[in-house]
Amino acid sequence: MIRHSSRLDAIPPYLFGEIARLKAEALQAGRDLVDLGIGDPDQPTPADIVDALASAARDPETHRYDESPAGDSAFLDAVCRRFEREFGVTVDAGAQALELIGSKEGLAHLAWAILDPGDVSLVPNPAYTVYRVNSLMAGAELVEMPLLQRNGFLPDLTAIPTDAAKRARILWLNYPNNPTGATAEPRLFEDAVRFCRDYDILLVNDAAYAEVSFDGYRCPSVLQVAGAMDTAIEFHSFSKMFNMTGWRIGMAFGNPDAVTALNKLKSNIDSKQFRAIAHAAAYAADRASNAASLDLVRRRRDILVDGLNSLGWNIPRPRATFYVWVPVPEGYTSMTYAAALLDRAGVLAIPGVGYGAHGDGYVRMSLTVPGDRKGERVAEAVRRIGEAGLTPGSS
Ligand SMILES: Cc1ncc(COP(=O)(O)O)c(C=O)c1O
Repeated sequence: MIRHSSRLDAIPPYLFGEIARLKAEALQAGRDLVDLGIGDPDQPTPADIVDALASAARDPETHRYDESPAGDSAFLDAVCRRFEREFGVTVDAGAQALELIGSKEGLAHLAWAILDPGDVSLVPNPAYTVYRVNSLMAGAELVEMPLLQRNGFLPDLTAIPTDAAKRARILWLNYPNNPTGATAEPRLFEDAVRFCRDYDILLVNDAAYAEVSFDGYRCPSVLQVAGAMDTAIEFHSFSKMFNMTGWRIGMAFGNPDAVTALNKLKSNIDSKQFRAIAHAAAYAADRASNAASLDLVRRRRDILVDGLNSLGWNIPRPRATFYVWVPVPEGYTSMTYAAALLDRAGVLAIPGVGYGAHGDGYVRMSLTVPGDRKGERVAEAVRRIGEAGLTPGSS
């Protein structure tokens, strides 16, 4: 038997496995499931972006290695222009920006580029698992920042022990947030920048959902805070904002030392994204719109949140992300409730405990719903949950 590195033993067990098994069983039995599971846009990438890819792919120049220092220059110029337009922050494309093969790749490699064994990594709980898993594999010690409802699912920085802060090298934030759907006010970013400057910590904001927002709400960027460039890096992505999850393209903006460290690691691992994809993304950054898709997501959000609230919940409409974070009725854990939803209502949701212990007590319902045209599948999910009596006060 081939032995794997002991590093891989640091990867926690896959907590979504049981639900994946139940889903496969239900589909095998021919059941009709409303899938509110994975956060992957069900709508296609806008046609003009696909056309831009097709024409870029016909240019033989894009077929070769991208030998640029930090990513295709047309791409970096376009995303820096967009960042300035959307967030009012000027970024130097030559020193403060980096092309990524999706933001997940960049977030994962950042942990490896920054953390040494024994360093502290300050991670939210619940959270997208990439911060935790890669910090652990890099040998860091995790110190968790609970995201609790009473704090609006924002971390309480004053609760971080001084000893942990002194040993910390990275503090991870993710706003707009997966899985809670919470958004941050600029105040959190101001406090976090101050905290990280005081303790010489790299502040990371994963802003993969920064441009998936509704009702005219504009998400703040951590780089809007004065002095943030001294201590912060922010990750953005085309995946969610333009229905481009399969294309694998994203970018980081921020502190030049952090960008250089990440680039140094990456240039010894990957050879950048296919330049035709980078060119199509540059086109998207400057000229494309995904308003129709976002409007459909907003419509589903209203149907789901208002529907659940009519069944006895009291859930705010998230202003950004694809996610509705639903407290489970009394008597259930997130796992038993997700299993009951699947079994008794044919509705697939993700148990919150998969994102960390503080996610227990919740399930995540995603507004990217395969087969839904205008909210009818979401309405069907609400109807089934009500009919099955899987509602607050029913246990
Ligand atoms: C919070 C968060 N960050 C990053 C990512 C990764 O996105 P990308 O497709 O850019 O790698 C995801 C994907 O689900 C996510 O939920």
